[in-house]
Amino acid sequence: MPENSNLLEKIKHSLESQEQPTVTILSSLLSIQDNLHYIPSEGISETAKFCGKSTNEVWSVASFYTNFRFTPPGDNVVDVCWGPTCHLLGAQIIIDNLQKTLEIDGEGESKDGKITLKYNTCLGACAQAPCIAIDHYIHGKQDKNTANKIINEIRNK
Ligand code: FES
Repeated sequence: MPENSNLLEKIKHSLESQEQPTVTILSSLLSIQDNLHYIPSEGISETAKFCGKSTNEVWSVASFYTNFRFTPPGDNVVDVCWGPTCHLLGAQIIIDNLQKTLEIDGEGESKDGKITLKYNTCLGACAQAPCIAIDHYIHGKQDKNTANKIINEIRNK
């Protein structure tokens, strides 16, 4: 099956498998992102068709929410907490060091496509601060060396 038709099938499945009683543009976009981890341009057009709305109406919703992403993430998503507790205990040093290691400024994907670095305002594990999460799995009590070691292990898999 060509890659694009596979993508379309996944999008259609995301749209049609919504179980809540009220289906909206927002719920449709959330369903696509939950399944694909991003919203491809085909996701916008299929959502428009599915909801009986225009592409512009779907874009106006999609572009409003900063949690939607429109490019594929890296193979692993690394959340670095910079909430108050983690910040006080050295999160900025961890962030600076990971960005240097991944050769990126701010959030984003490493060039090898293996890592997406994201900031998080609290991972809910303040007692273990400073924290990072790899694909939602928390690693607490981090410093720049331990966080870097975890990232390098992932990249070298
Ligand atoms: S502030 Fe970092 S886990 Fe809560």
